[in-house]
Amino acid sequence: MTVSDAGTAPVAVGLIGAGLIGAFHGETLARRVPGARLAGVADPAPGAAERLAASLGAPLATTDPAELLADPAVEAVVIAAPARFHADLADADRATAAAGVAGVPLQVGFNRRFDQSFRAAHDLVAAGRLGTPQLLRSLTRDPGIPDPGRVPPSTIFLETLIHDFDTLRYLNPGAEPVEVYAVADALAYPDFKDQGLQDTAVVLVRFDNGAIATAEASFNAVYGYDIRGEVFGSAGMVTAGDIRRTTMTFHGAEGVASDTWRRNIDLFHDAYTAELAYFADCVRGGVTPEPGGRDARAALAVALAAIRSAQTGGPVAPDA
Ligand SMILES: NC(=O)c1ccc[n+]([C@@H]2O[C@H](COP(=O)([O-])OP(=O)(O)OC[C@H]3O[C@@H](n4cnc5c(N)ncnc54)[C@H](O)[C@@H]3O)[C@@H](O)[C@H]2O)c1
Repeated sequence: MTVSDAGTAPVAVGLIGAGLIGAFHGETLARRVPGARLAGVADPAPGAAERLAASLGAPLATTDPAELLADPAVEAVVIAAPARFHADLADADRATAAAGVAGVPLQVGFNRRFDQSFRAAHDLVAAGRLGTPQLLRSLTRDPGIPDPGRVPPSTIFLETLIHDFDTLRYLNPGAEPVEVYAVADALAYPDFKDQGLQDTAVVLVRFDNGAIATAEASFNAVYGYDIRGEVFGSAGMVTAGDIRRTTMTFHGAEGVASDTWRRNIDLFHDAYTAELAYFADCVRGGVTPEPGGRDARAALAVALAAIRSAQTGGPVAPDA
């Protein structure tokens, strides 16, 4: 690349993790975002990176993420590794600080912020149209899990509700959670309760601006993906999210019916794409993205507090 086209050429992005969401992000980078190209794929599972790279025309495939990071052609990375490799609070702080010192734009995949409906709700709250936020809610109901016996402990908090905790912060701009109270159980798959499965949870979150919020999750939405948010304030109420796949509604002898979403990559197809388009723009423009490390840390602190609360049965303050 010459210096003259450095400002306009697509950002060369390497992908770390070629599983379900990694494959979708890889496809997005290769095909859906003009400001990015897929420079390579790394995944330790034999053959996974090769298969994805070949199908998307990426020049590098490796089982070693370090090889991808060392490739001088790679300007940015998207990490889609399993949650067991996610950072704890101290590591999150170190990663955020290191990115800041290095001047590296660090973005976190809280994709609901890139969904038009959630963004419009946020913008109304931020503009003061709802007055003072008093009640908030965010819910995630997944259509089901393929193998309840293989769900790692606390997944409902660390992988599912963490999005709701971020959504609550996003919809209550400038406020921070101060108290968390969680209840969780295995209502959908009770046979796996003894193994520690939690498939249903409700979390009450109090914010420092007085607002009271609930986050709710289930792995048992037989009717399809159901992801919604709501803010009730002194001057009105706003909702975001809709279970309907399209505005088509069938009216028949038995009543009315709508199609629903069955896969997150369909429900959030446009949000995931907007998320990576924005990331590429931030990398190219040297802009600090949002949501970033601070947001990830805040949502993780609520998730960890919720895990402790569900264990102890009492309210817990998130770690500062
Ligand atoms: N933001 C979202 O909406 C969203 C949606 C789905 C998944 N996720 C998150 O993305 C992550 C991946 O989810 P998934 O459903 O694609 O999982 P997956 O199990 O389908 O894929 C994970 C892939 O990572 C690979 N891998 C294992 N160890 C690795 C390592 N050390 N470095 C790099 N790759 C490694 C595995 O071989 C596998 O191919 C999870 O943390 C999940 O919570 C986020």
